[in-house]
Amino acid sequence: MSRKTKASIAVLVSGGGTNLQALIDAEQKGIITSGHISLVISNNPGAYALTRAANAGIETAVITRKGCGDQQAMEAKIIETLESHDIDLIILAGFMSILSSDFTGKYDHRIINVHPSLIPSFCGEGFYGLRVHEAALAKGVRVTGATVHYVNEIPDGGEIIMQKAVNIRENDTPESLQKRVMRLAEWKILPAAAEKVSAQIIASIQ
Ligand code: GAR
Repeated sequence: MSRKTKASIAVLVSGGGTNLQALIDAEQKGIITSGHISLVISNNPGAYALTRAANAGIETAVITRKGCGDQQAMEAKIIETLESHDIDLIILAGFMSILSSDFTGKYDHRIINVHPSLIPSFCGEGFYGLRVHEAALAKGVRVTGATVHYVNEIPDGGEIIMQKAVNIRENDTPESLQKRVMRLAEWKILPAAAEKVSAQIIASIQ
């Protein structure tokens, strides 16, 4: 039997997919060498992330809660799809659905997520997307950033893998802050963490 030289990565998305793009670019540039993005799953049929995946020649699947009936059925379909593609690492890149403990328990240390704040600030249920930056500005913090962490049964509660800080400016809006956090932090640490965890997975299955 031939040995796997790269971890098979599935990226789960819901929206624009700029983090997915950062992962695709990183693989093309050789920043990610221990993993290969082989599948993109979206729970939103209109996600622009699907176009990004198609442009890069990556197989896509759309699996919605509505289409499946409920969250449990959606997760079962996602698991079936991951298993049929022999996926080793699941990356949540703007995936706006909280996965159940049954799901996260099945993939212990095999799911990572990018969150747009310095966890444990501005995280957990209800903190996603622009809301995170609105909360940071409302609190008046001077520094925010992004975190990549393992996903467990606690929303944004798993072990931290990487973080990067970003300074807040006097005239920041939630939108300007979101853009800067993405550019300076998320798009850098997500590919770096993907490489780190892929290398660990490959080493563990040799
Ligand atoms: C990103 O900022 C990501 O960190 C955030 O949603 C955005 C998705 O953008 N995720 C969360 O808030 C998860 N709690 P993208 O689709 O362009 O990558």
